[in-house]
Amino acid sequence: LDLKKLQTISEARVWLQSCPWADREGVLPPDTVLGLVPTMGALHEGHLSLIRSARKHCPVVVVTIFVNPIQFGPNEDYRKYPRPIEADLEACEREGANAVFYPTAEEMYSQASSTRIIVPPDLTATLCGPHRPGHFDGVATIVAKLFHIFTPAMAFFGQKDYQQAAIIRRMNHDLNFCMGLCICPTVREQDGLAMSSRNAYLSPAERVQARSLSASLFWARDQVAAGQRDADKLVREMRERIEAAGPCRIDYVECVGDQDLSPRPRVEGRCVFALAVRIGSTRLIDNVMVDATGTKQ
Ligand code: PAF
Repeated sequence: LDLKKLQTISEARVWLQSCPWADREGVLPPDTVLGLVPTMGALHEGHLSLIRSARKHCPVVVVTIFVNPIQFGPNEDYRKYPRPIEADLEACEREGANAVFYPTAEEMYSQASSTRIIVPPDLTATLCGPHRPGHFDGVATIVAKLFHIFTPAMAFFGQKDYQQAAIIRRMNHDLNFCMGLCICPTVREQDGLAMSSRNAYLSPAERVQARSLSASLFWARDQVAAGQRDADKLVREMRERIEAAGPCRIDYVECVGDQDLSPRPRVEGRCVFALAVRIGSTRLIDNVMVDATGTKQ
């Protein structure tokens, strides 16, 4: 089956209504579900793992590629964000996606567009929230628009963007999208660095330095497994380890509850250690989950 390339919302609607995956009588098999993989393109192994997971769960898979202007702050990398559309289309084809939707900014936000989803502060008071004002409103708005355009049964996101996944999960519940959400594990380079389209900005020396991020997270996870429960102490030492690796600006290193994302001075139950660090002009994020339930104190 050829990859269907969709660039406008009306093309997407016509394609969906034509049910190209239906059997010869035009009847959808009862288990037909559409899986949506929203991305900003510059596809790497992390994105490909989302597409593969979608293919495993859903007979119809749509990948969206859209660098969403309203989730970038005024001093962020909207303009320089990589847009290798030909390579991305090839990757979608290779992975067996049924369709790819890659609209222009004008298509998604007409002149008159002014309605936004506002994410309340309970999930944005920690982690990236204070450092990227308005970012999650932009994410929630574009994801809701994509959900409305494609009405998928399932949508696939990466755990690397932990806070984003938590916010989308809450929105899915609060706005009654009733979608199956699949949060897929972070895919890493051999040395542990979490895959990200932004890794391409790193110089060779910065790329080496960037190992300190995942290394500090894995260290903290090992400490928790060995019985350490003082999250504040772990966070202090993680910061030292990251700073020792080279010049950087730490936006945050935090331990938060895995559901409510509120700060946890001590590791209790399931928690997430998460960080955002700027190396040169590149801002990188990463996280690991830890589970102190039933393990030794
Ligand atoms: O995670 C991303 O790539 C983006 O934030 C998303 C979910 C595609 C919304 O623009």
